[in-house]
Amino acid sequence: MSKQTLDRILQSQGFGTRKGCQQLITRGEVSIDGDTVTNFRTSFETTGLTFTLFDETWIYRDHVYIALNKPSDFECSRKTSHHPGVLTLLPEQFTWRDVQPVGRLDHDTTGLLLMSDDGTFIHAQSSPKRHVPKIYIATTHDPVTPDLVALLLSGVKLHDEPAPLAAVSCHALDAHRLEIVLEQGKYHQVKRMLAAAGNHCSALQRSAIGRLTLESLGLKEGEWCYLDEAQRALLAPVAL
Ligand code: URA
Repeated sequence: MSKQTLDRILQSQGFGTRKGCQQLITRGEVSIDGDTVTNFRTSFETTGLTFTLFDETWIYRDHVYIALNKPSDFECSRKTSHHPGVLTLLPEQFTWRDVQPVGRLDHDTTGLLLMSDDGTFIHAQSSPKRHVPKIYIATTHDPVTPDLVALLLSGVKLHDEPAPLAAVSCHALDAHRLEIVLEQGKYHQVKRMLAAAGNHCSALQRSAIGRLTLESLGLKEGEWCYLDEAQRALLAPVAL
């Protein structure tokens, strides 16, 4: 439980600088329980607080945990070079809250991307020691063969990697698509593993992280949602 003044509350939720939030409140843009609050020094208990700003209602959140169905042609890096950043797909206050992608997907990879402003969560999810499987659906240029699947399962040697990298599991979905599960998150790993195995990845989608599937979230490309505690629990390491 913690009480905070309304200007600090709005600032923590990403609605701008402290001064900017004070101005919003003084102008009468913020209401709580149907009452407009114009004194920015008024304190509120933050747990369970909802407030309305510009006719939109928001729930106070200490941190945000977000799942995005990333479309192609968006970059995960902070300093984007050729395509817009994934943060442009989210409300602006998430940028103010310093929401960041958890790990990275290539600009042309689609699918499940986690985002958060909770450093502990980001660190835990990105840690190589935490064996959280990432499930990808790769479309291949050449047909998927039993030999290709066997090679990906036994391990392929990538340039700059001291030891061969192997898929945790891998199987053909149809003639040109395979599901591949990885526990590491090396740079372009799926594409490089497919290339090292003599094929070429022409499209890539991340369909699940741990037991959290994109399908269960029902997000169309470009859509996002908050993850609740039960959904975050599905991101724990699993025995495959
Ligand atoms: N492997 C890749 O090659 N690209 C991604 O975006 C993710 C995994």
